[in-house]
Amino acid sequence: MEKLTNIEIEKQRGYIQKMRLVNERATSSPKAFVETYGCAQNENDSERISGMLFDMGYGFCEDAKDADLIIYNTCAVRENAELRVFGNLGALKHLKAKKPELIIGVCGCMVQQEHIAEQIKKKYKHVDMVFGTHALWRLPELLAEAMENGRAFDVHTSDGEIFEGITTKREKSPLAKIPIMYGCNNFCTYCIVPYVRGRERSRTVDSVLKEVREVAALGYKEVMLLGQNVNSYGNDLSDGISFAKLLEEVCTVDGIERIRFMTSHPKDISDELICVMARNDKICKQLHLPVQCGSDRILKKMNRSYTRDKYLDIVRKVRQAMPDIVLTTDIIVGFPGETNEDFEETMSILREVEYDMIFSFIYSKRKGTPAAEMEDCLSAEEKHQNFERMVAFQNEISKRKNDAYLGRCEKVLVEGLSKTNPKFLSGRTDGGKIVNFRGEEGMTGEIVNVRITEIKTWSLIGEIID
Ligand code: SAH
Ligand code: SF4
Ligand code: F3S
Repeated sequence: MEKLTNIEIEKQRGYIQKMRLVNERATSSPKAFVETYGCAQNENDSERISGMLFDMGYGFCEDAKDADLIIYNTCAVRENAELRVFGNLGALKHLKAKKPELIIGVCGCMVQQEHIAEQIKKKYKHVDMVFGTHALWRLPELLAEAMENGRAFDVHTSDGEIFEGITTKREKSPLAKIPIMYGCNNFCTYCIVPYVRGRERSRTVDSVLKEVREVAALGYKEVMLLGQNVNSYGNDLSDGISFAKLLEEVCTVDGIERIRFMTSHPKDISDELICVMARNDKICKQLHLPVQCGSDRILKKMNRSYTRDKYLDIVRKVRQAMPDIVLTTDIIVGFPGETNEDFEETMSILREVEYDMIFSFIYSKRKGTPAAEMEDCLSAEEKHQNFERMVAFQNEISKRKNDAYLGRCEKVLVEGLSKTNPKFLSGRTDGGKIVNFRGEEGMTGEIVNVRITEIKTWSLIGEIID
């Protein structure tokens, strides 16, 4: 695996200095607006984008209308994510016409697809910068280029780089996202991620630990380790350290009290991982284990490399080791060729496992993936009906699972004011359940004891106890 050389990093530092001087000379300090679509990996990329912008002397604003620089960090996983970006980009045309010095950049997964990058280049002439996931670290250079030459593009397909040493400007939250690997090797037949994120590359144990220590020193109590499939962490490293071993290392960092991770592919969840999770109090008892579908026939067509029985075995083992574990999953409804019988198998796996929560999606055709060429049999209407029935069914299960929390005392990490009701604070239990309760905003970042007094389908209500 190739790493970014020091020379390249130094080169970008040079551009950061250059942009800083430009921005310092401006009459008012320039403001950036960064909008993120997609998953936690993208959110972390945006934190790095914001870090570079901060180093370049940018301030930040909450409204795109006030910005001198707008960056959309995009997601390609489903069509509706892309349509939203196109819609929002279209709306920026007027803003750019009124404010010609405004710089608009589009980056992330969506523009790694050649046809999309071309479309933006040709049809969205008000976009000044387009850069893919592999070119994120070149933002300072591209920004300088866009300012000098009008437009800058870097959407290449090489996937060797891991960018270390970039400032991260984290979102306001006591939880720090730490990527441990990039890319994916699994090629599930519906999924665009391996095409837009490239092959798996693991960060070294030292780089991960260095970042964990840094956030601990800044006062973060919780870390979320990120990767498309964290279970294959280290497979590409010569020291051969497993994800379970990495977790144990992270547990030794003083100040970090909670460790979460996302996502685990069921095909390579190991006994070692289950054991390490069970015996370390710092590792949250929460597991997101995407099953996608309950039918073996469809799982095979999806190239998921496990059967329903093998998946259920893993769930059994996990629950045996950690009876209180909070289990969540992802489901795709309407994969090409899925029949109503296949769908009933998904319903029955939901019944059997009783997840705390599911993230469900209607299959979205992604250009260039094998599933895009597969024949479909259910109509869009049938798929929607199945989807709605599944959501209603799962809501009952989620509510029932939450009911078991009534009267319990839970340790909650306070994340800040609740977004839906600012009279309440919001935080998460060890298992990742959202709890809202009355308290002072100054408690943000603390772990408090909360007694659960009321149950909702997706969250819990409680009161702080001493
Ligand atoms: N690496 C993670 C998932 C990343 S994408 C994993 O394997 O678990 C997040 C979720 O989006 C997937 O789990 C899947 O349920 C859903 N997804 C991916 N491609 C999709 C598509 N083409 N249509 C609908 N849902 C999709
Ligand atoms: Fe996509 Fe499958 Fe990789 Fe997850 S494991 S990112 S679903 S290809
Ligand atoms: Fe979307 Fe890219 Fe994440 S496609 S789900 S933002 S890896």
